[in-house]
Amino acid sequence: MLVTYVLQLTLLVTCSYGAVIDIPDPDLLPIPGLSVAKIDAVIEPVIVDKGTKTFIGKVHNGVFDVEKGFVDGLHEVVGTPVDLEQLTFHLVTAKNVGAPSKINFFKPDDVANTTGKIVFLIHGWQSSMNSSWVRDLSEILIKRHPGTHVVEVNWDGPAADNYAFSAFVTESAGDYVGILINRLVSDYKIPLKNILVIGHSLGAQISGWAAKKFIDITGKKLPRIVALDPAGPLFILRPDSRRLNKKDADVVSVVHTDADKLGFPDNCGTLDFFPNGGDNQPGCWTVDLAKISTYVEPVTCDHSRAWDFFVEAVNNTNSFLARKCASNWYSKNEDCTDEVVAMGDLETKATGSFYLETNEHRPYSKPLLKLKKKDAVEKVNVTQKVQNATAVTTEKSVDDLSILDFK
Ligand SMILES: *[C@@H]1O[C@H](CO)[C@@H](O)[C@H](O)[C@H]1NC(C)=O
Ligand SMILES: *[C@@H]1O[C@H](CO)[C@@H](O)[C@H](O)[C@H]1NC(C)=O
Ligand SMILES: *[C@@H]1O[C@H](CO)[C@@H](O)[C@H](O)[C@H]1NC(C)=O
Ligand SMILES: *[C@@H]1O[C@H](CO)[C@@H](O)[C@H](O)[C@H]1NC(C)=O
Ligand SMILES: *[C@@H]1O[C@H](CO)[C@@H](O)[C@H](O)[C@H]1NC(C)=O
Repeated sequence: MLVTYVLQLTLLVTCSYGAVIDIPDPDLLPIPGLSVAKIDAVIEPVIVDKGTKTFIGKVHNGVFDVEKGFVDGLHEVVGTPVDLEQLTFHLVTAKNVGAPSKINFFKPDDVANTTGKIVFLIHGWQSSMNSSWVRDLSEILIKRHPGTHVVEVNWDGPAADNYAFSAFVTESAGDYVGILINRLVSDYKIPLKNILVIGHSLGAQISGWAAKKFIDITGKKLPRIVALDPAGPLFILRPDSRRLNKKDADVVSVVHTDADKLGFPDNCGTLDFFPNGGDNQPGCWTVDLAKISTYVEPVTCDHSRAWDFFVEAVNNTNSFLARKCASNWYSKNEDCTDEVVAMGDLETKATGSFYLETNEHRPYSKPLLKLKKKDAVEKVNVTQKVQNATAVTTEKSVDDLSILDFK
């Protein structure tokens, strides 16, 4: 199970506008750090179950340079918890959009100086607060409500480590975030309802730890966490209490985009969104070497679609409308309802699994999926089924009724 979903060895490199290169089996590549592999054409994703390695690199002129190899036989490790040098907090307000100022963790007067929301944004593995989604979302949130104070959490040092070490420090990083939130709520009397925490990947796991720490200290839950494709590898092996879960906050809203690889494979919130089914995102296998210019974040495409979608969803209210279905993916037409929620809705109290489809490119939002009504014919014949079953039951066993779906 672990091997299957942890490393499908689909190596992807995103460039600034979202195009992607997909490298096949990294075992075919020479030594990490030195190796190059020529990319000649569109390469279909290759899924290799034997793998226990991830490689991250950049593409220059059609050549993939491996920068780092990660994760040999993914096991939990015990490392050194982060300290306040490796974990820093930066404030963005309407007055300094694009130029965050460092926060004094022990005296966050400037953070508390608002009646608006205080939103924590936490980046993931192999990333930093300079990630485009952190900047874009800060700007959009402040544009929507100028009183918003955004706290960008930076842990780029530990996040650049081997995955298992980065995963290990999420707990200590989350503890600090939880302590800071408690300081704002307890010492500065910030109303709890004004606190919002949004994290991607391992940053989403940090959100979960922050929420747990807050519960430890205060006995109260944070009102809302938004977990953008929360990290799955290693966390899937842990009990609920040691990973992001639906009890962490009143609303734990999760966007699943890479559930079969780097993301968490199952529902883990009170509200779980599954764009395009939650595993493989359209547009992610596109190779267009001619257009490649810069590489901001060498992370996988499916995994980063979570924030691509979310940033657009928050920017355009009522986009990314998703439909609640009882189970499985909508295209299988299983028990979908007429309950609809916008994925960027930061107030909703809806619960359950919600499905939607997106475009391959920006704008990603697509019109709402039509409800495939179980039509009248079927309903009428359910009646007939019941009649028949009742007839049969009189001759056979009542247990036979259990095979019928009376809904
Ligand atoms: C709080 O905000 C007010 C108005 O914007 C400003 O004058 C003041 O200097 C701020 N105080 C702190 C501690 O940031
Ligand atoms: C973010 O970008 C700024 C400006 O380019 C730079 O000074 C800073 O070191 C960067 N921070 C991180 C964590 O990469
Ligand atoms: C947000 O929406 C505005 C208006 O539709 C658009 O101009 C802007 O580029 C969008 N921002 C992002 C980061 O997508
Ligand atoms: C479905 O069953 C009902 C009840 O027996 C029957 O009246 C109706 O004709 C059936 N509908 C179809 C389309 O066969
Ligand atoms: C009900 O029984 C009738 C007569 O045996 C049969 O033609 C019909 O297909 C059955 N309908 C269902 C829904 O099982």
